[in-house]
Amino acid sequence: MIIVIIGAQWGDEGKGKVVDLLADRFDIVSRYQGGHNAGHSVYVGDKAFVLRLLPSGIIHEGTTCVLGNGMVIDPRAFFEEVDQMTSQGISITPDRLKVSSRAHLITPYHQALDHTSEERLGNEKIGTTLRGIGPAYEDKAGRRGIRVADALVPEVLKARIERNLAEANKVIAVFGREPLRSDEIFEQMSALAERLRPFVCETSKFYADAKADNKKILLEGAQATLLDVDHGTYPFVTSSNPTAGGASVGSGIPPHHISGVLGIVRTYATRVGEGPFPTEMLEEEEDIANLIRERGNEFGSVTKRPRRCGWFDAVATRYAADLNGFDSIALTKIDVLDTMAELKVCVGYKIDGERVDTFPAVSQDLRQIEPIYESLEGWQSDTVGCTDIEKMPTNARKYIDFLSESIGVEIGLVSTGPERDQTIILKDSVMEGWFQ
Ligand code: IMP
Repeated sequence: MIIVIIGAQWGDEGKGKVVDLLADRFDIVSRYQGGHNAGHSVYVGDKAFVLRLLPSGIIHEGTTCVLGNGMVIDPRAFFEEVDQMTSQGISITPDRLKVSSRAHLITPYHQALDHTSEERLGNEKIGTTLRGIGPAYEDKAGRRGIRVADALVPEVLKARIERNLAEANKVIAVFGREPLRSDEIFEQMSALAERLRPFVCETSKFYADAKADNKKILLEGAQATLLDVDHGTYPFVTSSNPTAGGASVGSGIPPHHISGVLGIVRTYATRVGEGPFPTEMLEEEEDIANLIRERGNEFGSVTKRPRRCGWFDAVATRYAADLNGFDSIALTKIDVLDTMAELKVCVGYKIDGERVDTFPAVSQDLRQIEPIYESLEGWQSDTVGCTDIEKMPTNARKYIDFLSESIGVEIGLVSTGPERDQTIILKDSVMEGWFQ
C-alpha cells in the first residue's frame, strides 16, 4: 500500500500530527519535494518535536525514512536536525534514514540569492522562507545544480561551486552584499557530503524492492496544494510540486503504484508570506483573526511569522480535491473554533460582478475577488480531546458535514487537539482502512 498525504490549502494544515498517527502502521515514510522550508510540530506526551527536513515518521523507531530525489537538501540544516533529534532520544542511523543520490543540495549561495531575489522584488516580494529553496530549484532546472551524488566527488563539487559562485557573486555584489568565497563553501560542503555519504541511497531501487516486499509506504507532501509551482497561486508559490503528481516524480515511484491520496484540510484557512488569499480576515474581522491565531497557535514553526488567517474556502479546497484526487480527508483543528458564535464558509467567488465556482489562474483575479459566504451557527462548547463523533456538539457535526459536502470528499478523520489521542476516526470511511 502506498498512500500520499497532502495539504489542501496554503500549508500548515496539521500534516505532522496525521503523518505521526499513521507512521507506525507504515514501514516507510518519505518526503518527495521541498526542503527545510517546511515545519511540522509533533507533540508526543510532554515532548515537542519540530521537523523541517526529516519526515515525521522519524519519531517512530520502527520506521524507515527517505528524503526523495525531488527534494532540495541543505546539508547544514540536515545535520542540525539529525543532531537535535538525537539529543531528544531519537536514534537516527543510515539503516533507517535514506537520502536520494539524486536530490539537489542547497548551498550558502542559494540562501544568499533567496535574499537578493526578494530584495529585488520589493513590494512584489514572495515572502519566501529565505532558506534558498527557490534558487536551488532554479539551478536544478537550469542544469547547473549540485546533486548529492555530485557532492560525493570532490573534483565535481569544487568545479560546480566555483562556476556557480562566479555567477552568484555578481548578483550578490549588485545588492551591496559581501561576496562569498568558493574555497570556504567547498570546504564546508565537502565535509558535510562526507558525513552524508552513509545515508546516500539509490532510492528508486529501494522503493522497487520495498514494493516487491509488500511494504507500506507513506509519501508525505510538504507545503501544500495552493503553493504548488504549477497549480498554486503563481507566482506566490514555492518552487516544487507538492500535489499528488509530484509524489511520483519526486520519489521515483510509478504513479499507478500509488493506492490512495489523503488530503489534510483545516477548519479555517491560513497563509504565510505574500500572495492572494480570498477569504482573509481583514481589518474589520481582525478580532476574529487574532482569536484564531492565538487559539490555533498560528505562528510559523520555522520562521515564527504570524500566519494570516481566513474563513474556510470551499472553492479552493474543492480545487485541491480535484487536483489531487483525495480519497479521504483529515479535518484538523476543529477545537480552535469552539468559542465562535458564527462561522462563514466561502462557497463561491464573485469576480467583476460574475459568480465563479472554480479557482481562477490569474492571481490578479484572486486579489479582487469577492467571496460569497454561507453562514453557519457555531457550537460554543468544548470539543478539545473529543474522540467520539456522536459526542460532538450538533453544530460542530453540521459544520463538518457542510465542509465535506462542499468539497465533495468524505471526512474520515477529525482532529480535536494536538495530541495523538485527541482524534476521531470515522467508522466505515476510506481512512479507517488506512489505520488498520
Ligand atoms: P519558499 O518555499 O521558501 O520559496 O517560499 C515560497 C512561499 O511558500 C512563501 O509564501 C512561503 O511562506 C511559503 N511556504 C514555504 N514553505 C511553507 C510551509 O511549510 N508552510 C506554509 N507556507 C510555506
